[in-house]
Amino acid sequence: MIIALDGPAASGKGTLSKRIAAHYGLHSLDTGLLYRAVALSLLDRRLKLHDVWAAVALARTLDTARLDDPDLRRADVGEGASVVAKIPEVRAALLAYQRWFAGQSPGAVLDGRDIATVVCPNADVKIFVTATPEARAKRRHLEYQSRGLEMTEAEVLELILARDARDSGRADAPLKQDGGAILLDTTELDIDAAFDVAVGEIKRKIGR
Ligand code: DC
Repeated sequence: MIIALDGPAASGKGTLSKRIAAHYGLHSLDTGLLYRAVALSLLDRRLKLHDVWAAVALARTLDTARLDDPDLRRADVGEGASVVAKIPEVRAALLAYQRWFAGQSPGAVLDGRDIATVVCPNADVKIFVTATPEARAKRRHLEYQSRGLEMTEAEVLELILARDARDSGRADAPLKQDGGAILLDTTELDIDAAFDVAVGEIKRKIGR
């Protein structure tokens, strides 16, 4: 069984994805971490995010055993990830791993931007998780505050809007709702309510 969760930054898809995976006993992959890992490797080496050759080489040799590095959660790494994600060769280099991951038994939940549209077009369940930019900025700001990061909510909103524009506007595998995906708007929902809606959709599709 493959469950695809796509959506913009801070929509809640990451938390939802892990909860669904735990509930059904499935593997879980936050595919944003792959793009973040490429960006972090470039930043660590003081290379430019637009250095296509280096980004592709790093994507091809990515160590997927190190996706738990806390530095991957940094705000600058998230921004960098969105920049390297525009490079088609980087996306192509990360595709095989994502498809391999999705094919594991007994199944997997993958969250990202292009899971339903490109990585797993045959996913059993497709959910597009979204929320207003303001609600997402509020959540991300709280998260940053809990990690001691100094940023105002207005600054976080600005970053979110810029990221939305970059992720939705790129030519290769842009962020968009797949025709077969249900829309889950979490603006007014807490994680428990969002989880209930997602499980309802999964039940409707696969009967459990
Ligand atoms: O979900 P996230 O914020 O960790 O993702 C970081 C960036 O990685 C995001 O802005 C765009 C890119 N990304 C992507 O292009 N495709 C994916 N499937 C996942 C993330």
